[in-house]
Amino acid sequence: SLMGQYTGMKQNEHRLAEYFNVDKCIIVSGNSDEEKKVLASFGLTVSEALQKLLPAKESVIAVMGGTTMAAVAENMVALDQKVSHNIFVPARGGIGETMGIQANSVSATMAAKTGGTSRPLYVPERVSHETYQSLLQEPFVQEVIGLIDESTCVIHSIGQAMRMAERRGMSQDELVMLKDKGAVSESFGYFFDKEGEVVYKIPRIGLQLKDLEKIPVILAVAGGASKAEAIEAYMKNAPQQTVLITDESAANAILKGV
Ligand code: G3H
Repeated sequence: SLMGQYTGMKQNEHRLAEYFNVDKCIIVSGNSDEEKKVLASFGLTVSEALQKLLPAKESVIAVMGGTTMAAVAENMVALDQKVSHNIFVPARGGIGETMGIQANSVSATMAAKTGGTSRPLYVPERVSHETYQSLLQEPFVQEVIGLIDESTCVIHSIGQAMRMAERRGMSQDELVMLKDKGAVSESFGYFFDKEGEVVYKIPRIGLQLKDLEKIPVILAVAGGASKAEAIEAYMKNAPQQTVLITDESAANAILKGV
């Protein structure tokens, strides 16, 4: 019955949250590997979570990139006044993604969809160390870094390590190194092994993994059975205030092994 399915899903949300030792998991129905509408439905779920979890004042929200985050952004809605004045910023400088799925695009779209504002972080990928260092001194870069420091909410996805490394054009040597180290998961430009330990980090400015500890609201959004292993690995060490937003197929694949 439908009611039975609903109750089952609620039970699985509790089981997942308990397994990962986090405050909350939200499972949406379906499989985002196969259905675009499931990815799209994450947009409403994220909007509702922000409405519920953020204080009734302007917040700075730091966001990451990727196809999940881009789909979330496109499908976000302004639910009420309180969430409509937020400032969206990219959480980290570019990590080698194409324009449409970069954190800069995601934050601009989220602001547009919800009536908030956004600030881009203009730090290009392939510049010399000297150029990079001097860019960091520029006021327009420092302003955004200051906002990232003030952020009280982070929204990010989780990806499969090797897929992400290839998509971001990492070198053959780096791919071999990641394999050797057992990387299975990636988030924020950090790579994690099965136990959720960091095995490599793409050096970029902005939010660092340790900064997450002090951020009151963290939404991790990732679904699809193909990502089950990656989600499980990252979530093993995720900060407790992380709200995992996932889909049925990923949740079932993870819970099968619990
Ligand atoms: O950090 C995680 C990845 O950005 C996830 O990318 O949503 O395109 O799978 P994706």
